[in-house]
Amino acid sequence: MTTPEQRDAAIREAGYNVFALSARDVLIDLLTDSGTGAMSRDQWAAIQHGDESYAGSPSWFIFRDAVTELFPFRHVIPTHQGRAAERILFSVVAGPGMVVPSNTHFDTTRANIEFTGAEGVDLVIAEGRDPANLHPFKGNLDTAALDALITERGHEHVPVVMVTITNNSAGGQPVSLANLHEVRAVCDKHKVPLFLDACRFAENAWFIREREEGQSGREVADIVREMASLADGMTMSAKKDPLANIGGWLACNDDALAESFRNMLILTEGFPTYGGLAGRDLEAIAQGIREAVSHDYLRYRIQSTAYLGEALHRSGIPVFLPIGGHAVYLDARGLLPHIPPLEYPGQSLSVALYKEGGIRGSEIGTVMFGRQSDGTEKPAPTDLVRLAIPRRTYTQSHIDYVIEICQAVAEQASDLRGYRIVEEAPQLRHFTARFEPLT
Ligand code: F0G
Repeated sequence: MTTPEQRDAAIREAGYNVFALSARDVLIDLLTDSGTGAMSRDQWAAIQHGDESYAGSPSWFIFRDAVTELFPFRHVIPTHQGRAAERILFSVVAGPGMVVPSNTHFDTTRANIEFTGAEGVDLVIAEGRDPANLHPFKGNLDTAALDALITERGHEHVPVVMVTITNNSAGGQPVSLANLHEVRAVCDKHKVPLFLDACRFAENAWFIREREEGQSGREVADIVREMASLADGMTMSAKKDPLANIGGWLACNDDALAESFRNMLILTEGFPTYGGLAGRDLEAIAQGIREAVSHDYLRYRIQSTAYLGEALHRSGIPVFLPIGGHAVYLDARGLLPHIPPLEYPGQSLSVALYKEGGIRGSEIGTVMFGRQSDGTEKPAPTDLVRLAIPRRTYTQSHIDYVIEICQAVAEQASDLRGYRIVEEAPQLRHFTARFEPLT
């Protein structure tokens, strides 16, 4: 617990960037659902079973088998987290002159693409950009736009198409199986491989089961295997749906590509049977993957996120609809129309939530995506504040408190002011930028 005075001082010292706060000064931490969940009894038991052999550890085989049970790719390459898989993938396939389309690239994915000199392009359907639209699969990729882009640039300049499931940077919205089939058809037409950024694969599959015609009787694990069967490879952060605190992987079917990935892995992550992870981490992930597709768990997970989102929506706070799987996204531009995007309404709202109640959310908007590669700035498509829910961590009474604080902040909305950036890094500036309030 902190007092308002302590929080005022802490956030000022943090340069008005919640990433720079000490977690001890945060009461309810909704910064991310990445690596912040509670591991189960069986995961902790699996950790005791970890074998730390450098090469060919039994824990590696347990991990590989758990991954291929759901994602039957020929090659599985463990990494210490998702962005390591992205860095390996794009350092092998991308580079200057290349373009990588996606529904919406996550920030680290986009940064890893751009770091190689390539371009990332977001092609989510128009409904996916409108916070109020109730389309059931707002994460879908616009396949006509994809077809046009590949035709225009030439397939030799599109090394891979990525689909992010669920679409984290645009409201945590799911992608339908039908859309994945259509994307596959466009990829086949142009002979371009399809990769999934599958961090929240189980939540995506649950939404397919709940919302897509003809899917309601299916096992989630079965839906996941169908999603995987449509792709040529995947990147994964095991810190999300696999319920671990660390880890990830890169997988594919192509032998030559896998060899290049492994060579890069050895250079920067580790030997291909541990890839930057301890044997005990591999075991925790293997167990987490199995738990992630449990229907009881997923029902609890999706309903508890909806509980927060629907309460905020009912009290008139603009939120991204429908409520996503892992997070509720407050529409800061909608709540703070008097703050122009280039004065960062999302930043203003995230600071206000911290000051009011010690809640830490994260800006997903013009701070994160506004800076262009030529150094200029333009408004991001939306200015959101994400309240990400760690898995199996908070109780309903914690979430009731979050609702009360959001309501209190919404009442003061017209008093909130914008910010300007006084210090920023050349890539992924949102993590370390310092701000000053505008008067
Ligand atoms: N792809 C998506 C869709 C993600 O959400 C993340 C991470 C990554 C890739 C990178 O994985 O963190 O293990 O390197 N998202 C976290 C978040 C950080 O808060 O949404 P990582």
